[in-house]
Amino acid sequence: MCGIVGYTGSKSAQPILVGGLKRLEYRGYDSAGVAIEQDGELEVVHRKGKVEALEHTLLHFHFTGTCGIGHTRWATHGRPSEANAHPHTSCDAQIAVVHNGIIENFAELRENLIARGHHFTSETDTEVVAHLVEEEYARGASLLDALRLATQQLVGAYALAVVSAKEPGVIVCTRKDSPLVVGVGEDGSFVASDIIAMIEETRDVVVLSDGQFARLTSESVEFYGEDGNAFEPIISHVDWDLDVAEKGGYPDFMLKEIHEQPRVIRDTLAGRLVNGALSIDELDLSVEELNLIDRVYVIACGTSYHAGLIAKNLIEGWARIPTEVEVASEFRYRNPIITPTTLVVAVSQSGETADTLAAIRDARVKGARVFGITNVVGSPVARESDGVIYTKANKEIAVASTKSFLGQVVSLTLLALLLAQVKGKLKMNQVRLLFSELADTAHQVETILEDTTAIDRAAAACVDATSALFVGRGMGAAISYEGALKLKEISYLHAEAYPAGEMKHGPIALIDEGFPVIAVATKSPVYDKVISNLQESKARGAMIVAIATEGDEEIVKHADHVIYIPKVRDVFSAITASVPLQLFARAIAIKRGCDVDQPRNLAKSVTVE
Ligand code: AGP
Repeated sequence: MCGIVGYTGSKSAQPILVGGLKRLEYRGYDSAGVAIEQDGELEVVHRKGKVEALEHTLLHFHFTGTCGIGHTRWATHGRPSEANAHPHTSCDAQIAVVHNGIIENFAELRENLIARGHHFTSETDTEVVAHLVEEEYARGASLLDALRLATQQLVGAYALAVVSAKEPGVIVCTRKDSPLVVGVGEDGSFVASDIIAMIEETRDVVVLSDGQFARLTSESVEFYGEDGNAFEPIISHVDWDLDVAEKGGYPDFMLKEIHEQPRVIRDTLAGRLVNGALSIDELDLSVEELNLIDRVYVIACGTSYHAGLIAKNLIEGWARIPTEVEVASEFRYRNPIITPTTLVVAVSQSGETADTLAAIRDARVKGARVFGITNVVGSPVARESDGVIYTKANKEIAVASTKSFLGQVVSLTLLALLLAQVKGKLKMNQVRLLFSELADTAHQVETILEDTTAIDRAAAACVDATSALFVGRGMGAAISYEGALKLKEISYLHAEAYPAGEMKHGPIALIDEGFPVIAVATKSPVYDKVISNLQESKARGAMIVAIATEGDEEIVKHADHVIYIPKVRDVFSAITASVPLQLFARAIAIKRGCDVDQPRNLAKSVTVE
């Protein structure tokens, strides 16, 4: 995903910008570029591919300028290419802009700017910002005011850094719903989307809030609030070592990635509602073709398979299309019924899982249309599918999937809504309402992350167990599978998941005094049934940990530990209830002394059968 770095000071900007971009590489990107002030002009250099390629090119130029901005781009609007790489410039090439986020109203802005005589050189949403700033600057505004006036016209999410050849040595920046940090150093001032990009140069930072602006020069930084008034910022000193810095201050990547999930939800949804209708252009299928789909297979492995179990409920519930979810290693060796109107949805974080790839190839030979849902741009799953939705998780480092799982669930939810919209099974106002409730889950996940006391307490009670059962019904059953997998893969504690109604058909025999049963018991049409199953377990001595809906007082009578989560529509409980289960698994693993980022015997990408 995109990364920003900027520097103005007494040193040469080129190595600082390249060094910062290298530190941002972990986020994943497809192109990189810099704009450096050199002899009164802006020199802009872009390269498709790695920062190393950009670095190599820059070596030929030997820029000595001391002010510049840089960017790693992860394509959203416009394919990965040199022309679409940031920085983007104004018509007169005097203003350069780097941007993270999505400008949702860019199409309209672009049309108007073209009508006013602006010339565009890229397909990106970002380029409108360079032209808007150019217009305001031409009307006499300072660079800072020009940026402020430009952002007043933007709808969407952005972190922006801007330089102009007409105001040498100055960088102006702002943010909304996309992180941006300003650094104050001995040799100059810095801006970046992540502290890690500047940590070798300075450890004194100011984290900008939404709507705040900063004007950086080599000697100082001025900060301005949304109202335009200057304010004195709180400067934080970061004393992390580099290892911790890469983890964003968290003790491990897993926790960092769990905390990134509200952002993943927001990014995955950004730009999807266009003129009140849901749009997933990347699918590359006409409305007519989508309308013909009469069977869906979701194929995947591990955690991605569990995202598929959740999708089955949504696609069948909303779009009324029969949906099967199958482990890719099984799908590839049987003879599933596939016709030209079958849609195969292949879900894979890494985009290179051998079984999933083999299943895609098999499905295509049999005539299915294949959509990939993956986190890795240009991965084999992306290349070999007819259409692809990228989850906006950024690079996931912990072997146990957390944020990419949530990205998959949100992407599959969008797909289910789209199919329902196209087939006319949901009215447009219903789609919009569901979309807005889906978007609200970002905030609800934040609430869950704020206080983990109940989760830690429940984990402490289970740490010495030798086995655990996860149960639920409906959505709760699908989430339970993922809860059990998370626990076993990182804590090595044996865990199984069952639909709660299956308990008395066998698993209940396992239960004796103190046996942990973790129940997804959120409010849903099957809530009472889940409670009955918990009573059966409790009667046999089980220690019950319940994930329950805020305000549910009844549950306290049936559970030893209750982890409350915010009230959401049942279909969205997969998103909210997954988060405490991730934290629960991690807490147990930590207490058992396990390496949560690199569990034994597991690899992040399973590229062999
Ligand atoms: C997730 O925590 C696991 N490490 C694993 O089950 C993973 O989901 C599975 O190997 C599939 O990987 P993929 O999504 O990259 O295809």
